[in-house]
Amino acid sequence: MTTMHTTTPSAIGQPLDRVDGRPKVTGSAHYSAEIPLPDMAYAYVVGSRIAAGRVCGIDASAATAEEGVLAVLTHENLPRIAEQPPLVPSLAGTAAPGQTYFPMQDDIVHYAGQQIALVVADTWERAQHAAHLLRFSYEETAPVTTLDQGRDRAYVPESIFGGWIPGRIERGDVEAGLRDADVRVEATYTYAANHHNPIEPSSTTAHWDGDTLLLYDSTQGVNATQMTVSRLLGVPMSRIRVIGHYAGGSFGCKAMIHAHPTLAALAAREVGRPVKLALTREQMFTSVGHREEQEQHVTLGATREGRLTAVRHHKLSPTSPFDDWAEPSLGTSSQIYACPHYEGVYRLFRANTMTPTFMRAPGEASGMFALECAMDELAHELGVDPVELRLRNYTDVDAMSGFPWSSSGLRECYERGARRFGWSGRDPRPATRREGDWLIGTGMATATYPVAPLANPQRARARLYADGTAVVQAATPDFGTGVATVMTQVAADGLGMSVERCRFENGDTDLPNIAAAVGSAGAGMISAAVHSAATALRGQLVNKAVADAGSPLHGADPVDVVVRDGVMTAGTASEAYTDLLRRNGRPDAEALGQWNPPAHDIPYGMMTFGAQFAEVAVDAELGLVRVRRMTGAFAPGRVLNAKTARSQLMGGMLWGLGQALLEANHMAPDTGRWANSSLAEYLVAVNADAPDVDIELIEVEDDIVNPLGVKGVGEIGQVGVAAAIANAVHHATGRRVRKLPITIEDLL
Ligand code: MOS
Repeated sequence: MTTMHTTTPSAIGQPLDRVDGRPKVTGSAHYSAEIPLPDMAYAYVVGSRIAAGRVCGIDASAATAEEGVLAVLTHENLPRIAEQPPLVPSLAGTAAPGQTYFPMQDDIVHYAGQQIALVVADTWERAQHAAHLLRFSYEETAPVTTLDQGRDRAYVPESIFGGWIPGRIERGDVEAGLRDADVRVEATYTYAANHHNPIEPSSTTAHWDGDTLLLYDSTQGVNATQMTVSRLLGVPMSRIRVIGHYAGGSFGCKAMIHAHPTLAALAAREVGRPVKLALTREQMFTSVGHREEQEQHVTLGATREGRLTAVRHHKLSPTSPFDDWAEPSLGTSSQIYACPHYEGVYRLFRANTMTPTFMRAPGEASGMFALECAMDELAHELGVDPVELRLRNYTDVDAMSGFPWSSSGLRECYERGARRFGWSGRDPRPATRREGDWLIGTGMATATYPVAPLANPQRARARLYADGTAVVQAATPDFGTGVATVMTQVAADGLGMSVERCRFENGDTDLPNIAAAVGSAGAGMISAAVHSAATALRGQLVNKAVADAGSPLHGADPVDVVVRDGVMTAGTASEAYTDLLRRNGRPDAEALGQWNPPAHDIPYGMMTFGAQFAEVAVDAELGLVRVRRMTGAFAPGRVLNAKTARSQLMGGMLWGLGQALLEANHMAPDTGRWANSSLAEYLVAVNADAPDVDIELIEVEDDIVNPLGVKGVGEIGQVGVAAAIANAVHHATGRRVRKLPITIEDLL
């Protein structure tokens, strides 16, 4: 924690406006698909119309005869990849392919929309037109698509989530725990598949210069793109540079590196010109992963007083024919409540789908829906207030590892959230409050999100120029969360300068390697490296001044020197950085900062906590659900920027509303195609759905997670919201809806 006190925070925490706000609204921010390159060619992807079988014939004659068509690439002529890296999450600092099946290496079709051809032409329109002239013949087999088809063929995988999480998690003896229970609650919860749909669809522009490849990619991790493409193409890392200055949202679908960046590079090499490959909105539904449909079965055992004796949490979900992937929905139920006996089991079945992927609060959002609805059912059964039930099962230690939380704040989240929301005095009886046609109810849930256990050294570079401006650099992209803004603040405080004189530069593999913007880890990881680089540079300048006979600070003890607005002061003596550099004839000064995250096995549980409250009105006749207000109380450690943090949390809470009431995609059982493939059909919450969202930030200090004690706010806002809303619907109507989204049909 010593590093924390060497900074006097003045910029950190302030509600600074986004540093990239103006370029974004004026259009001077260039996204990956907007990079103009001379002699650019355009690639259009063609997806399979069938979900299972083989491509047994391709007639490309009409397409290749079209003017401007440069290449038609299919499994018959696309160059083979060098090596398929294993599926490991992009958090791990290794290659992170979205799945281990690379398209167009053979004639097999595993899922609808799988890339089976790539048409390259001198304009995008010509490529698209020629693509529609391709004729494919298929040998089709019946697809596996639904939970009901998969139930009997399900297996327990050794591990999921790229090998990070075991397929079975146990402690104690769950059967004994359930036997000893006074009360048991058992229920099945289902959750429809979700698709991310960031406003900017994925795109890559590939440019070869000899044997050196430059990629402009819309990604959460430029290093992840670099490492993945390097392995797939067999091109050394040192010959691949990836730039991603801006990304228009992502939410997990740009965390793993799907096939299109590599396809763009292969196409560009083939035609000898730069190639831009932009996915269409429709292709975003079949090319970059999704949150899998799932069914969760929860059994809780408790004493009369409401103390949990056992938690059993099973999940069934479809995965691709080649990878064991499920989002880790059972993590939080194993950790967050005091309970001696636990059993979590993932069951998967192979279906005709691409490998699912990370999607905002990947696992926590869906797992918490099941757990926190079951807790509400238990509270109802016992006649204990839902907040009180959570407090009775509060734990100071991670219930799975037994290690104390590095920091918590969860009790305060319940208490202050409840006070703000006006929870006390709630009549627990369902269907008793009515306002005209509307039945009114309230519900709550716990929110948690793990502090991601990243292991790689985090690096950043700080450079101060003699003109008094500074730039701090790290490779990470900012996909819209505000990374560039908050890191400017961290850099300014670390250097002892004003934010106006500091600039954060990012989104380029030529800059120091650092975590991708994934897993709510960006703020903690990147701030650690930026803080370390900035304070290293400040230390270097202070040491130089006190050793310099020409400096007014000569002979001062470096620990007595404070720096504000670029001026070093010790007692009555002071000197500006710029004067020090100029007097010494130096154009600039530079330092590299490195921070090594705590090892995975440190004896602490690391988790961010919060509590969600919601009030709904349900039209008794029509089944309409309106969320009238929501309160979230969160303890995310140090808040780097009050405005961007709130906007992340508010966005998360509103997304939770969408999960509760709107978001769903279903596969047509006969064709294996997604029912929704546009923003007109795939429903998300809009302003008219958005109620008042009230957010309370609870301060907790954390000396363990990273130097500034930042636990992150990217995903926790979404966790628990759907459960709070479903619980409120029960309170309003007396009806338990155990599926998401909750639709009108469920309440008629
Ligand atoms: Mo997060 S699912 O890495 O956007």
